[in-house]
Amino acid sequence: MPPILNSNNKYTTTTESKISRLNGNDELKDVHQNGEHTSNRDQIPDSFESEEVLDPFCNAESPQKISFHDVTSAAFLIKGGIVETPCPRSHISDEIGMELYLKEEFLQFTGSFKERGARYALLKLPEAQKNKGVISASLGNHAQGLSYHGYKLNIPVTVVMPEAATLMKIQKCRSYGARVVVEGKDMAEAKRIALRMSKEEGLTYINGYDHPHIMAGQGTIGLEILEQVSEPDAVIIPVGGGGLLAGIATAIKSLSPKTKIIGVESERCQSFTRAMENGGPIYTPIESTLADGLAVPTCGYNAYVTALPLLDKMVVVKEAWIALSILRLVELEKCVVEGAGAAGLAAILSGHLNEFKGKKVVSLLCGGNIDTTVFGRCLERGLAAEGRLLRFNVTVSDRPGGIADLCKLLAELGVSVKDIMHERAWLHDIFSVEVKVVCETRDWEHSVELRKTLKERYAQVRFIDSPMAIPGYEMNE
Ligand SMILES: Cc1ncc(COP(=O)(O)O)c(C=O)c1O
Repeated sequence: MPPILNSNNKYTTTTESKISRLNGNDELKDVHQNGEHTSNRDQIPDSFESEEVLDPFCNAESPQKISFHDVTSAAFLIKGGIVETPCPRSHISDEIGMELYLKEEFLQFTGSFKERGARYALLKLPEAQKNKGVISASLGNHAQGLSYHGYKLNIPVTVVMPEAATLMKIQKCRSYGARVVVEGKDMAEAKRIALRMSKEEGLTYINGYDHPHIMAGQGTIGLEILEQVSEPDAVIIPVGGGGLLAGIATAIKSLSPKTKIIGVESERCQSFTRAMENGGPIYTPIESTLADGLAVPTCGYNAYVTALPLLDKMVVVKEAWIALSILRLVELEKCVVEGAGAAGLAAILSGHLNEFKGKKVVSLLCGGNIDTTVFGRCLERGLAAEGRLLRFNVTVSDRPGGIADLCKLLAELGVSVKDIMHERAWLHDIFSVEVKVVCETRDWEHSVELRKTLKERYAQVRFIDSPMAIPGYEMNE
C-alpha cells in the first residue's frame, strides 16, 4: 500500500483558510487530504516508503504555523456552539499570594476544551467531506468532543480507540452517535489503523492536537481569557501534544504580548520538553500518569513550530503535586478536574512559578473527565502529599490495654484512624507488639502535634510518609 501523501505541493490545495507554512514561504495554504489531491510517488522521499498512511495535515517535513487570523476565524464560526466558560478569581489566590483566575473549561458539555477545535475542524470541512465524515484516534476528550459536535452538525464521525479504552469512554462516544472501532494495543496502533481507514473510506483524519483547525479552535480560549481578565501577567497551559498551547499562545501574544505563556507537563510525559532539548519533536516514552490527557509520546509538528517562539517557560511537575491540586480544587473551588486540568495549579503549588507572586495569573482547568476510582485515589494521594494522611509504625506494650492506650491517645488528639493492624511475630522483644496505623489529621500543624506526642510517649515510632507539599520536610525525620 503506497503512502497517501507527502510532499510540499502534491496534496496541497489552497482554501480560504489562512494557515501559513513555516519554512520562509509566506504563501497561505491549507492541506487537504481527500478530494482534490493527486498522488505522485516520485515526490515521496524514501523515508515514507512504508505501509504507513501519513496524516497530510501534520507533516514533519513542512510543519504549519497557525496565525491570529485563524484563531479569530475559529472564534467567529464556533460561537454559539460551545460554552463560553467562566474565569473567576480563585479562592486559592490569598494562600498562594497571586491574583489567580481559573478558566473553567471542564464546564464544556463533554467535559473539556477539546470541543472547540473539534467543532471548528468539522465546520471547516468542504461540503463533500461533511457528507463522508471524519475519523480520529483518541483515548478520551478529543474523541468525545468530535463525536458530540459531529452529532450536532450531522457529520459522521468514526473514532478508533485502543483496546485499553475504558467502557465508559467508548459508551460516551457511542451515545453521541459515533462509530467506535476498538482496535489497537495502544494509541500509536489505533492511530495507524485510523489513518489507514481514512484512506480506504475517504474520511478526513483529524489529529486531536496537531491539525491546524484544531489548534485554531483551542486558541479561542485565549481570546475569551483576555475579555475576562485584563492584561494577565501569565497564562498557564497544560501541554500534551501542544495544540492547546499553540492556539492559546497565538491568541494571547497577538493581543497582549507582555503576558507570559507558561506550559506545563507531567514528569511522566515530557514530550514537549524533550522536543525543546532535541530541537524538534521526538518520540518520548510515557509512563502511566494521573494526567492521562497529556500522555502524548511525540508532540505535534505544527503545534511545536507554532508554540515554541511564543513560549516563555516550560515547567515539569511531579505527579504528587497534580494529585494535591485535584484535592485543592475540590476542597476550595468545588471543581472536579482531571489530572491534566490540575497541572497548571500543580505548577504554582510546587513553587515553579514563584516569580509571579503578587501578579495576575490565569490557569486553565481544561478538563474534568476523571475516572471515579482514580479520583478517589487522587484525593488520598493529595491528602498524603499535604501530610494530612499519615502512616506510622509504633511499638507498644503487649500487655492488655497497650493498643487501647494508643487508640485513646489518638482519640484525645482528634486524629481519625483509617486503618490499624498489629504484628508480633517479627519483633525482637516478645513483650511488645508493632502497630501499623494509617490516620487522617486536620492539617499539617495537627500532624506535627501528633508526631511530637507519639515521640514523647513511645520509644519506637517510625513515620513512613513523605508529605512533599510541606516545605523543608525531611522524609523519616
Ligand atoms: C484535559 C486536557 N488538558 C490538556 C490537554 C492537552 O492538550 P494538547 O494535546 O493540545 O496539548 C488535553 C489533551 O487531550 C486534555 O484532554
